[in-house]
Amino acid sequence: FNVPVPVNEPILGYAPGSKERELLKAAIADARSKQIDIPMYIGGKEVHTADKGKVTPPHDHQHVLGQYSKGDKSHVQSAIDAALAAKANWENLAWEHRAAIFLKAADLIAGPYRYKLNAATMLGQSKNAYQAEIDSACELIDFLRFNVSYMSDIYKQQPPVSPKGAWNRVEQRPLEGFVFALTPFNFTAIAGNLPTSVALMGNVVVWKPANTQIFAANVLMQIFKEAGLPDGVINLVYVSGPDAGEVIFNHPDFAGIHFTGSTGVFQDIWKTIGNNIHKFKTYPRIVGETGGKDFILVHGSADPEVSSTAILRGSFEYQGQKCSAASRVYIAKSVWPAIKEFMIRDLATFKMGGTEDFGNFINAVIDANSFNKLAKYIDAAKADSSVEIIAGGNYDNSKGYFIEPTVLVVQDPKYTTMCEELFGPVLTIYVYNDEAYAEVLETIDGTSIYALTGAVIAQDRYAIEQATHALRNAAGNFYINDKCTGAVVGQQPFGGARGSGTNDKAGSMINLLRWVSPRTIKETF
Ligand code: NAD
Ligand code: ALA
Repeated sequence: FNVPVPVNEPILGYAPGSKERELLKAAIADARSKQIDIPMYIGGKEVHTADKGKVTPPHDHQHVLGQYSKGDKSHVQSAIDAALAAKANWENLAWEHRAAIFLKAADLIAGPYRYKLNAATMLGQSKNAYQAEIDSACELIDFLRFNVSYMSDIYKQQPPVSPKGAWNRVEQRPLEGFVFALTPFNFTAIAGNLPTSVALMGNVVVWKPANTQIFAANVLMQIFKEAGLPDGVINLVYVSGPDAGEVIFNHPDFAGIHFTGSTGVFQDIWKTIGNNIHKFKTYPRIVGETGGKDFILVHGSADPEVSSTAILRGSFEYQGQKCSAASRVYIAKSVWPAIKEFMIRDLATFKMGGTEDFGNFINAVIDANSFNKLAKYIDAAKADSSVEIIAGGNYDNSKGYFIEPTVLVVQDPKYTTMCEELFGPVLTIYVYNDEAYAEVLETIDGTSIYALTGAVIAQDRYAIEQATHALRNAAGNFYINDKCTGAVVGQQPFGGARGSGTNDKAGSMINLLRWVSPRTIKETF
C-alpha cells in the first residue's frame, strides 16, 4: 500500500476579526467555564479515584479548570496488564490499519479538535495562540502524518540479497513487552508523539505525562479513542514519577522507554534501568530527549536587526521554556551596540499577561517551582556587580507565575547562567572581541554539558564555515542565520547528543527504528 505523501500542516493566523480567532476564543471560554473531571484511561476505560489533583492555568493559578484522578502503583500495574492484554491483537493488525488510526487522529486535530486542543494547551500550559497552534496543531499533526510515511518506508525497505536456492528476509517485529512513554510539560506535540510513534510500530504503551500537562493530555486521549485506537494500546496514568518507575523498572516485560524531559531525571532513570537489567527479558530500548543550553553566536559580519530578531524569538517565545530556546548568546563587540538598540526597542513592545488576551506575547512560566528557581537566578544576578541587567529583572506571582523577559550581560563567559539550563525567559549575553572568534568557538563548545541546538549569524562565509566545523558536536540541530528554535517535522529532524539526549531524532525514521526489533529469516529451497 502507498500511504498519503505528507505535507506540513499550514499554520492558522488567528488574525483579529477572523473566524478562526472567534472559534478559538469560544473554545477557551468553554474550557474556562467548566470544572471538568479528568480520569485516567486504562484498558480503554475511564478510571476515577478519590484522590484528586487540581488543574489551574499557570497565568491564573486561582482559577480551577478541572480536577484529575491521581493514581498509585496499583494503577501502573493495571496499565501494564491492560497493555500486555492488548498486545497480541495490536501487533498482529496489518500496519496499514494502525496507520489509518493515526492518520485519522491527525485529521481530527486538523479539523474538529483543533480549537479545543489549542485552548487546552493555552490554558493548561500558558502558551499564546501562535505558540499553541505551532505545537498542539501543526507539529503534532506533522508528527502523526510523517511518522506514518516513515513507517511505510521501514516496512517497504529493500530486502537483503538472496542467492539462488535461498530467500533472505527481514521482519520488523514490535518489541517484546510494553513501552513506557514519559512526557514533559512544554509541548503537547511531544505528549502526542511519544506514545503514538511507539504504538504505530505495533507496540503497547503506558503513558505518564507531566502533571502540568494533564489538561491537554486528556484531550489527546479523547482524540486517540475517537480515531479508533483499540482499548489498552495506550494507557494513560497520572501517578508520581517515582511510583511509576518503581513498578515499571521492575517488570520483566519492560521493553523500552520513550522519554522527553530533564537530563537529571533521564540519568536517574537510566541508572535504575541499568541496576535492574537482569530483571528484564530483553535489553530495554532507552530513547531520551533531554535538556539544553542552546546558543546563538553572532559574528561581526552579522546584520544587527536579523540578529536581534533571532535572539529575541529564540530566547523568549513560550517564555524560553523550549528545550531548544537560546539562553546563552555570544555577540561580537563591533555589532553589539546596534543589536542592543534593536533588542531594547523590540522588548519594549512585548506585552505580558494571560493567554486569553491574544495581544500578550509573554505568558506565565509553568509553575511555582520554575518561578522560584528563575527568581533566584535573577536575584543573584542583581546582587552581582559584574552582571548588567539591560532589560527585565522583575517578577510577580500574585495572579500567575510571571517573569519579565530578562537580559543579563556578563563579563565571564562561564558565569552560572551561561552554563546551567534555566528553562525560562532569562537570557545571558557575553560580548567578545571580534578578533577572538576562534576562542569564542572553543568557549561555546566547552561551556555546557548539553548539545541540543545552536545558531551562527554571520554574512562572512568563512566565519560560517569555521563555526559549522568547530561546533559540530555542540548541537544536534544547527542553524545558520536563523534562531535556534522551531524545527519542523519532515524538514529538520530534531534531537541532541551529549547531555541533551540519545539523538534519536523525533519525527524521523531513525526514531521509529528504535521501536522495532528486526528478525532475519533465511529459507533454503
Ligand atoms: P521533567 O524531567 O521534570 O519531567 C519529565 C517527565 O518525567 C514528567 O512526566 C515527569 O512527571 C517525569 N518524572 C519526573 N521525575 C521523575 C522520576 N523521578 N521518575 C520517573 N519520572 C519522573 O521535565 P519537564 O520539566 O516536564 O520538561 C522540561 C525539560 O524537558 C527541560 O529540561 C527540557 O530541556 C526538556 N525537554 C527536552 C526536549 C528535547 O527534545 N531534547 C524537548 C522538550 C523538553
Ligand atoms: N522542536 C522544538 C523546536 O525546535 C523543540 O523548537
